[in-house]
Amino acid sequence: MKAYELDKFGLENLRIVEAERPVPGDDEVLVKIQAASLNFRDLMIISGKYNPRMKLPVVPLSDGAGEVAAVGANVTAFKVGDRVMPLFVQKWFDGKLDKAASQSSLGGDARSNGVLREYAAFNERSVIGIPDHLSYAEAATLPCTALTAWNALVDSGNVKAGETVLTLGTGGVSIFAVQIAKLFGARVIATTSSDEKAAKLKALGADETINYRSTPDWEAKVLELTDDIGVDHVVEVGGAATIEKSIASVRMGGSIALIGSLSGGATINTVPIFMRSIRLQGIFVGSKAMFGRMLDEFTRVKMRPVIDRRFDFKAACDALRYMERGEHFGKIVIEF
Ligand SMILES: NC(=O)c1ccc[n+]([C@@H]2O[C@H](COP(=O)([O-])OP(=O)(O)OC[C@H]3O[C@@H](n4cnc5c(N)ncnc54)[C@H](OP(=O)(O)O)[C@@H]3O)[C@@H](O)[C@H]2O)c1
Repeated sequence: MKAYELDKFGLENLRIVEAERPVPGDDEVLVKIQAASLNFRDLMIISGKYNPRMKLPVVPLSDGAGEVAAVGANVTAFKVGDRVMPLFVQKWFDGKLDKAASQSSLGGDARSNGVLREYAAFNERSVIGIPDHLSYAEAATLPCTALTAWNALVDSGNVKAGETVLTLGTGGVSIFAVQIAKLFGARVIATTSSDEKAAKLKALGADETINYRSTPDWEAKVLELTDDIGVDHVVEVGGAATIEKSIASVRMGGSIALIGSLSGGATINTVPIFMRSIRLQGIFVGSKAMFGRMLDEFTRVKMRPVIDRRFDFKAACDALRYMERGEHFGKIVIEF
């Protein structure tokens, strides 16, 4: 089978190789991967910024979807032909995250190769079925960014109709956050770098948009749009460049889901956090139980992810370069 392998950090070192097709163990399903999607984390892993001590070679990319091609002797939950997605956190099934689970993310280490290969074997507990209304390409967008946005707003955030949600930028997490917030009847204020992307956000249901390039003090605009009260929830993906502004944008007693560091890690002033009784909650994707609840809701409303662009398997490096440029709106998919 063909697989992409990274034997040295740097996108120029990501190459297609011939590899052995895995043989599923007794508790495993063998999945013929049909599509994969990109996350910002994949760029960090490939460049060596995610974990400079990571053991190589590694097959990158955490998010994929495919068809069960073979099953091990003990497998009962799936059969050949079923459509599945591997979990991002392979060993987080329910309850609180623990250390072993947190170290089981796909595509982040040589012990847990990712999905940029034609076949991969997973424990049957570590995959989940694809809703009928979704294609492989659409399903491949869900395991990381959709579940992260869901956890931030629903499991952790408990978002309610009538509340206001602030999203930052138009990458994978933020676009799912817009869709999920609207699904729960919340009002959405969304920031972005361009008026063209702002128009797309409006078309997707965002109530207000702010161009953070032409309005660098966008936190003042957020307060103006919320009668000087602030928003109930912030889906914080920016890190250093945005966290202080996010703190200034949230209402007293509101919550900030700390998810990402697109602009680097941040050092913050803690005083406004306790003076204004703000809740800061770190989010690490989500458990299989959360994924199941999200899929039930997506199935009920026939939710479709926003795919910006699709690339062929052989053009995976072009897809990653396209992501690096930050021109995308939503998800970038690789079709096998
Ligand atoms: N904790 C977790 O479990 C978890 C899970 C998933 C992702 N993450 C993290 O969340 C972040 C987003 O991931 P992603 O995959 O959604 O990324 P992505 O798709 O690559 O999103 C990139 C987009 O974010 C916007 N952006 C870039 N820099 C920004 C800034 N300084 N301020 C505001 N917006 C900015 C840009 O959109 P505009 O042009 O519209 O501004 C850009 O196109 C990353 O840091 C990632 O590592 C964490």
